[in-house]
Amino acid sequence: MLNVTLARSMPARPGLAIHLVASDALADAGYDVRLLERMGFGGKAGERLLMPSGDRDVELLVGVGPLDELSTDALRRAAVQATRGAGNSRSATLVHAHVTEGRIEPAWATQALAEGLILGSYRFTAHKSDGDGSAAATGEAAEAKKKAGARSNGAGLEKVAIVSTGDRSERDGLRRGIAIASAVLFARDLVNEPGGVLTPTVAAERISARAADVGATATVLGPEEIREERLGGLLAVNQGSDEEPRFVRLEHRPEGAEGHVALVGKGITFDSGGLSIKPADGMMTMKCDMGGAAAVAAAVCAMAELDVPVAVTAYLPFTDNMNGGSAQRPGDVYTARNGTTVEVLNTDAEGRLVLADALAWAAEETPDAIVDLATLTGACMIALGDRIAGLMGTDDDLVAELRSAAEGTGERVWPLPLPDDYRRMLDSTVADIKNIGARYGGTLTAGLFLREFTGGVPWAHLDIAGPAFGDSDWDEGPAGGTGFGVRTLVGFVEGRAAAAISEAPVG
Ligand code: BES
Ligand code: MN
Ligand code: ZN
Repeated sequence: MLNVTLARSMPARPGLAIHLVASDALADAGYDVRLLERMGFGGKAGERLLMPSGDRDVELLVGVGPLDELSTDALRRAAVQATRGAGNSRSATLVHAHVTEGRIEPAWATQALAEGLILGSYRFTAHKSDGDGSAAATGEAAEAKKKAGARSNGAGLEKVAIVSTGDRSERDGLRRGIAIASAVLFARDLVNEPGGVLTPTVAAERISARAADVGATATVLGPEEIREERLGGLLAVNQGSDEEPRFVRLEHRPEGAEGHVALVGKGITFDSGGLSIKPADGMMTMKCDMGGAAAVAAAVCAMAELDVPVAVTAYLPFTDNMNGGSAQRPGDVYTARNGTTVEVLNTDAEGRLVLADALAWAAEETPDAIVDLATLTGACMIALGDRIAGLMGTDDDLVAELRSAAEGTGERVWPLPLPDDYRRMLDSTVADIKNIGARYGGTLTAGLFLREFTGGVPWAHLDIAGPAFGDSDWDEGPAGGTGFGVRTLVGFVEGRAAAAISEAPVG
């Protein structure tokens, strides 16, 4: 991971000096506007210009757009651009005071910049023979290739110092930015790992290891315990697989905690569709189907690292959805943890089956709220595209909290309804409920299915089928797992902590 620090000032020989530039303050900042214009740089968001500075240094200008629209989002994105435009520099120094001063709190600016720098310089190289992963080739040729290849495109940036404005709160901003961004990278790594590598067993191991590092408690249940806990949906989906299922319980228990939040994440390590098999095209990215569980696990670890004073329990069911000889058949019926019988008419609607048990378990422990994240429906991508998550829930305040948490951290969500009269689309002729609705409104019927298992506890559901995975490079990172949801969840729980503090009686 990129090393980000604070520096007192721009060193005399910075190597690479990164300057943020506003589109409406080019001249004020001392640049020859017409010259820059001829070079195609106007300080707009997404623009950058790399040029020599003196005889040995390099300067990178990164546009942030107009000053009066400056936001932490704009800073985060500019920092991502900076990592992409850094050429072959290994270390750099970044200044921002001239654009952020008086507009963005120094701690917030530092956090956003640190996040952007770390997110932007992320690469998943575990399976590149010339990368730094386990498949690394050795020998001189591989070394030379590594030096030449890995360092183009800013991928060789190892260290960036952010020039401090002198405000002491920046240290905390930096600490938060690093903790949150490194959690996002952890989630990305889990998603990017192929389904044949990141089996349920391996997913549980990696999450346990990180939990141990940050002081969260992980408990891993194997097949026997899953049966004892009556997680019927997890077992039903796992029937077609040669891989054992796992259920991970993750706990963050800070001293003097105010409140208790339950988080649930869909952990399908690969979704073939089961017997209701997916077409080849639809299966190519289905290693991403544990993106909800990855984001939840990473977020809880970040909360432990940041000592967020709210108790958090995560419920993470892991299995793949395969079609071996004992796979569940369309028409099969199973009993979920809360006693509900479910007719499985489409084995590709498997996410709601594993989530139902996890939600029911969470509800039994009566937390203040339950939030689940799931790559649940293709229909949600049809509705909102691949950059915006669908948000549903049974409690307007909780939904509002999540909306504002997402907005504050630069992730995008949009509310969708849970229409009561659509529930009848899930009526089964043989069981209490069936697992698919009618042709239209698939995101809403999926949400209505989940609602049945939330036991009256305030609940919100984020369908992250779109934003969990990028088919190409995007605003905040390379193609592949995005780590979507980590920032929203951390922001959401931190928001609850702040509210509890401000509501506490004074004196
Ligand atoms: N994992 C998929 C949803 C998905 C699709 C996630 C595309 C990310 C990208 C889910 O398990 C699924 O297959 N859903 C079905 C539900 C249908 C059978 C009711 C779908 O969306 O087609
Ligand atoms: Mn599916
Ligand atoms: Zn799925």
